[in-house]
Amino acid sequence: MAEQKRDGFSSKLGIIVATAGSALGLGNIYRFPCEAGTNGGGAFLIVYLGIALLIGTPLMISEFVIGRRARSNPLSAFRRLEGKTSSIWSIIGYLGVVCAFLILAFYTTVAGWTLGYLGKAAANQFAGQNLAQIQQQFADFTGHAWLPLFCQMVFLALTAMVVMRGVKNGIERYSKILMPMLLLIMLVLCIKSLTLSGAGEGLRFFFWPDFSKITGRVLISALGQSFFSLSVGMGALITYGSYIGRNDNMVSSAVGVTLADTLVAVLAGVIIFPAAFTFGIRPEAGASLAFTTLPMVFQQMAGGYIFCLLFFVLLVIATLTSTISLLEVIVATLTEELRITRGRAAIVGTIGTAIIGVLATLSFRPDSPLRLGNNTVFDLLDHLTALYLMPLGGLLIVLFVGWRMGRTNVLDELTNSDSLPLGLRRGIVFVVRYLAPVAIAIIFVSQLME
Ligand code: PFF
Repeated sequence: MAEQKRDGFSSKLGIIVATAGSALGLGNIYRFPCEAGTNGGGAFLIVYLGIALLIGTPLMISEFVIGRRARSNPLSAFRRLEGKTSSIWSIIGYLGVVCAFLILAFYTTVAGWTLGYLGKAAANQFAGQNLAQIQQQFADFTGHAWLPLFCQMVFLALTAMVVMRGVKNGIERYSKILMPMLLLIMLVLCIKSLTLSGAGEGLRFFFWPDFSKITGRVLISALGQSFFSLSVGMGALITYGSYIGRNDNMVSSAVGVTLADTLVAVLAGVIIFPAAFTFGIRPEAGASLAFTTLPMVFQQMAGGYIFCLLFFVLLVIATLTSTISLLEVIVATLTEELRITRGRAAIVGTIGTAIIGVLATLSFRPDSPLRLGNNTVFDLLDHLTALYLMPLGGLLIVLFVGWRMGRTNVLDELTNSDSLPLGLRRGIVFVVRYLAPVAIAIIFVSQLME
């Protein structure tokens, strides 16, 4: 009975599209190039690819397994699977909700920028500008007294509106149409970037690994980035997994989503690094990297105005599908745990996020007191979640699925009760039991000791 009342995805494609919608976002287009740029380019890429495929995908599958088996939010999922009224493993759920809340707070800072940049694109404010002017625009926008805050609040309100309408009407419908369009426009941008004069240098930086640059910091940054990008390690996909149908193939869904997510991140690198080297922007520029290189590329393109506009429309939507999944973690938990309506839960979650989110956005002002040493509140939230909470959550999730749920139960989920072939799925269980926890633990501890 309880199962029938839960909202669910209407088709097999629904879960892939919705998970891809959660995964694809600023993590790929904004955060990935930023991390690759500050962590040695090619060295980062190779570690990133290894981790995303070998640890990220099995972790995504693990979250699906927990979600579909328990059919509930990340908090009560562990109680249900343990068959007890309280379970120590529920800590994963609590960690996840806190993590979703903190990510949403700083994520909507940049989400707000995408809205602001959509406005700039519509007003054709990049046309004829040189690099210094484009960089100044970024500094002026992010340091403006109220504009970035306003954009952030609009973004949060949009997210809340979609989430209030529920899973089927909201998430699925919005995700389905527009992601392929984003991919297409990124391909066009890639072609343009590859014809720029700094293409060779940019590609060398991005693809040529200098192994001596692989440090503990690079390893944990790549681990954090891959978890962040795939939306794993915090239970967001436990919630989505709880909406997967009995006959859906969750292994192929997870593999498909990881491949699409990785493709978009790599495409972002292929667009941004050649442009950075062409226009003389340092790859370690950090927060401003995507927001200065991209307008410069559009400016050089035939039909740049329209492409730029379209790109920012799609980026806003890709970002929205990610913020929706973050708020959904909070809302699913509040509605089921406190038995309040979706609407109420969405409002509570949004107001809570807005309070911390304001601090993240204000910390970008040049004279902001919201700094600890060189780090802004924004950086602190970003590091706390991606470098600590998500790796920790990921570790606990693979330990739970690998060692606590029972091999038979896990294989039963993976094979849809023996209706799918076992072969590869045994390998997944092996990775979840041994490789993933050991690798996450080693990387996590090595950064603590650095
Ligand atoms: N994966 C998203 C991105 O790459 O932009 C960010 C994200 C969404 C992280 C949802 C975590 C999450 F639960």
